Amino acid sequence: MHLTGTMTVNKDGRLEIGGITATKLVNDYGTPLLVYDEELILEKIAAFQAALAEYPGESQLIYASKAFLCRGLAAMLRKEGLALDIVSEGELARARAGNFPPEKMFFHGNNKSPAEIKKAIEEGAGRFIVDNACEARLLADISEQYEQEVACQLRVTPGIDANTHDYIKTGQKTSKFGVGIATGQAEELALWLEEQEQLNFMGLHSHIGSQIYESSTFKELIWSMAQFMLELRQKHGLKIKEINLGGGIGAPQRAEDSQVNIKNLVTEVGSELAATCKRADYPLPRLLLEPGRAIVGEAGTSLYTIGSVKRVNNSKNYVAVDGGMTDNIRPALYDANYEGFLANRCQADDDFLATVVGKCCESGDVLIKDLELPEPKAGDILTIPASGAYTYSMASNYNGIPRPAVLLVNSGQAEVLIEREKVSELYRLDTLPARFQD
Ligand code: LLP
Repeated sequence: MHLTGTMTVNKDGRLEIGGITATKLVNDYGTPLLVYDEELILEKIAAFQAALAEYPGESQLIYASKAFLCRGLAAMLRKEGLALDIVSEGELARARAGNFPPEKMFFHGNNKSPAEIKKAIEEGAGRFIVDNACEARLLADISEQYEQEVACQLRVTPGIDANTHDYIKTGQKTSKFGVGIATGQAEELALWLEEQEQLNFMGLHSHIGSQIYESSTFKELIWSMAQFMLELRQKHGLKIKEINLGGGIGAPQRAEDSQVNIKNLVTEVGSELAATCKRADYPLPRLLLEPGRAIVGEAGTSLYTIGSVKRVNNSKNYVAVDGGMTDNIRPALYDANYEGFLANRCQADDDFLATVVGKCCESGDVLIKDLELPEPKAGDILTIPASGAYTYSMASNYNGIPRPAVLLVNSGQAEVLIEREKVSELYRLDTLPARFQD
């Protein structure tokens, strides 16, 4: 049983998160429900910050909001001193509505629209991460219309093929993101950005993919970035002030998955960079990291109510819950493996092999393929721990299913971060043409 953060099983065999039983949360707020454990989020942030504090130069921890964002989380991250990776006007607006300071926002994306760029400049976004030559020209043109300099970094592709699902690899030479170091495009574009008067070119960014567990991959990344940084100085006298290594640090979803020691990994990466700079007599660049999943993945727990239980034969039993691919598309899209257990009967014997499915009209709507459970019945609460990253942020309304409510729990208190979506909100954007109104 994968008990994360403050999770415990009480004497009645019931799951507690943040000092509250899951059954109480479900009674009070309904299901499907996504519950974030505040202590665990803070613990993960503290591990990153402690490691970055050992880097002898300046550093900044940036949270990748695509993993999960809401106003409450934005406000909490602000208090903890984090910066924020945003990729759209939507994420910018949501973070602003959580009082997140724009100067600590890093605007990413491979196709920022002119309107989004303008909006972000007007709001005072701290950095633009330039993805490609086309976008570089657009940013330079637009920024000419404004008085203030626009600070930017260049996203480069180091040619690293990380050991992860194909859909979440981004460091390989042919990636949709960034410009290649090997092709010389990164060098050319870095020089071009440096020449633009209205742009303040700060440094290099790279994000090589997601759900990466090997520290050797991150070391490969830092070597490649450091080498490119030294080459830019040697060949062109260009000095890099910031190195942004993106996110991608894996977060376990099941008890059997490997754990990444965040503190050790980040400390190792920081000392590699510091040692390279020392050897080359290079002023220490500011070190930036932008994890998403490693901060919120394990801290989020999904709770569902079991409805139908259908026995097909000895080896196939379907257990259907009141959510599914609409609140967690990851098993269907990336073959993600999760673990599950019954929150109301944690100690009962697992003697039933279940295929946990959702309620969507899709055979691919499977949350967990083979899960051993106590024989389930309608009304039991199925828990999927470590499901806090890229679940709500990728949720849909397929089949007219409203998105779940999201809670933050800590020390026996539960607070609503996002209200459960109402059925009437599903068609709030529809219009009924006058000729059909009678
Ligand atoms: N920085 C950049 C520029 C990124 O594109 C991403 C993630 C991150 C940081 C944060 O990566 P993390 O630390 O969370 O792995 N929907 C997929 C993941 C897509 C990741 C997209 N970029 C999934 O559910 O696995």
